[in-house]
Amino acid sequence: MATAQFLALSSSSSASAAARPRACRAAPSRVCVAAAAAASSSGEPARRLAAEFDPAIPLACAVTPPSGWYIDPGFLRLELDRVFLRGWQAVGHIGQVKNPNDFFTGSLGNVEFVICRDANGKLQAFHNVCRHHASLLACGSGQKTCFQCPYHGWTYGLDGTLLKATRISGIKNFNKNDFGLLPIKVATWGPFVLARFDNSSQDTVGDVVGDEWLGSASDLLSRSGINTSLPHICRYFVTTI
Ligand code: FES
Repeated sequence: MATAQFLALSSSSSASAAARPRACRAAPSRVCVAAAAAASSSGEPARRLAAEFDPAIPLACAVTPPSGWYIDPGFLRLELDRVFLRGWQAVGHIGQVKNPNDFFTGSLGNVEFVICRDANGKLQAFHNVCRHHASLLACGSGQKTCFQCPYHGWTYGLDGTLLKATRISGIKNFNKNDFGLLPIKVATWGPFVLARFDNSSQDTVGDVVGDEWLGSASDLLSRSGINTSLPHICRYFVTTI
């Protein structure tokens, strides 16, 4: 069982989507739906079903995908692989990390992350996993001057630096500098905090983030403006993946 913030939880969006079926251009053709039903029962992978999707289907001819697609673990894995663990994802609101030492945590699939603003005001993102024995490090959200692992007490600065290491006596050539938190790419666009979990080595600068995240829609949104007066409401819910 895992708890995560709504912006960061792909699996829940899939599950909640099951409660609101609708026809849309993203729906497969009738032929595809029939094939899907047959394929699901025979255990064929979701990847093949997704490959049959035809985005050119007119809306009037589209049908609602089978409800099983929304709860099929195979589709969840495919969504994570093809969508959520590639490219930028909205993981929070800038109001959550407005001041130095603010932080919040979340997860995307099985990736745990922590977003924070370090003492110098720089936005940071890390895998929320201790470098000692891989305990979950930070919990929830709030303000902290450092992250201390609840397991054996390794302590990290909000810039990811390992400040204190315990239980290392007898370990040869241990260098604290080699055991900082593992970074995740982070950026902001409008009021959104974005992170990307793939191994893209590309450095993203300035306005490019919007294009990478939203494509041509970023320009439209920038010109039309985003209503930043809307309050940020943080919701939590529970999934069983
Ligand atoms: S697992 Fe974190 S200090 Fe040991």
